[in-house]
Formats: sequence, structure tokens, C-alpha cells
Amino acid sequence: MMQVKTPEQSKTIMTDLVLPGETNPLNNLFGGELLARMDRAASISARRHSRRIVVTASVNHVAFNRAVPLGSVLSVEAKVSRAFKTSMEIFIDVWIEDRESGARTKANEAIYTFVAVDETGKPVEVPEITPETKLEKKRYEAALRRKQLSLLLAGKIKPNDATELKALFV
Ligand SMILES: CC(C)(COP(=O)(O)OP(=O)(O)OC[C@H]1O[C@@H](n2cnc3c(N)ncnc32)[C@H](O)[C@@H]1OP(=O)(O)O)[C@@H](O)C(=O)NCCC(=O)NCCS
Repeated sequence: MMQVKTPEQSKTIMTDLVLPGETNPLNNLFGGELLARMDRAASISARRHSRRIVVTASVNHVAFNRAVPLGSVLSVEAKVSRAFKTSMEIFIDVWIEDRESGARTKANEAIYTFVAVDETGKPVEVPEITPETKLEKKRYEAALRRKQLSLLLAGKIKPNDATELKALFV
């Protein structure tokens, strides 16, 4: 029996500057660079939870709510929000740190799904997770709905099998 873990145990914070080679013509962070930073942080988080090789299975949601200017100090914070059998949902919050006050402003968020695999790429089981904080519990609850939506959009389940989604409409 695998040890049950908490989201906190997978918490990963990657803080880095936004440099000139990473920006678009408006001098804001290029979207693809942010996706890569989020993928890296999420991957470390999934590894911390599973202690396995992990691969990105899907990017379920990305919101580029706020532009991130050149020179910003950007923190990408990733945590496993729910573990299923072999897959894990990772929630990523992105913060900009103000140079003078040090205050953090939420810039973006994203939700990735990673799958733990063995050396041959075959999915393997991951430990269960128990959410602790109010926010962790909220994200945990909604994760099954998001998993079904992602599988439905990928054509991997039929609409009738998306029970959590159907429940929203009846
Ligand atoms: C991700 C991968 C391992 C899944 O393999 P698969 O043959 O579909 O395996 P399964 O059908 O058993 O799915 C494994 C798990 O992934 C989940 N999954 C698969 N596709 C998914 C999707 N689009 N969205 C959400 N979850 C997904 C399944 O629900 C299952 O979860 P569970 O075991 O926790 O219930 C496989 O597709 C793969 O290796 N993809 C390439 C990964 C990669 O290279 N990523 C980097 C991109 S450049």
C-alpha cells in the first residue's frame, strides 16, 4: 500500500527573471516561454508526488490574464491538486513580484495533467492525495470533472461516460 500524500508535499516554486530573449514585440513575456516554465514546474511537482518518471498528458486550461513585462520576477507555483490511478492533475499559479514592495500579483494560472510511467513508458500507479486547505479541497473536488472534460475533448471517453459533467446539467 502506497503512502497517502498531501498537495503541500508536491509544492514546487520556480522563480526567475523575464529576460529580453523571452519577450514578444510588446516587451511582454512570450506565451510559449510561460508554457515551458509551467510545464517544468508541473513536471517537478508530479515527480515529487509520484517519485516516478512523468510525462505531460494534456494541458487542460491556460489563462493568460495579465501580461508579464520584461524584467519581472516571475514565480511559477505548482502543486498536485488530485491524484487518480496513474494520472495527476497539477494546478499552477503564476505570480509577479513587485520590485519595490515585494507584493505578489497573480498573473496567470494553468492546469496540466501528468501521467507516471515506467522505463518503457507504461502508466504506473501513483499515491493517493488528501487535500488539506480550503483551496486544495475545492480544486480536488473539481478535478474529476476536469478529467472527464479533458478525456471527452480528446475523444477518449463517450459523452455518456462523463457522469460528473452530466450531473451539472440535470
Ligand atoms: C500520457 C500517456 C502515457 C497516456 O497513455 P495511454 O495509453 O492513453 O494510457 P491510459 O489510457 O492508460 O491513460 C493513462 C492515464 O492518463 C489519463 N489520460 C490520458 N489522456 C488524457 C487526457 N487527454 N486528459 C486527461 N487525462 C488523460 C487517463 O485517464 C489515465 O488516467 P488514470 O490512470 O489516472 O485513470 C501517453 O499518451 C503518452 O506517453 N503520451 C506522450 C506523452 C509525452 O510525450 N508528453 C510530452 C509531450 S511533448
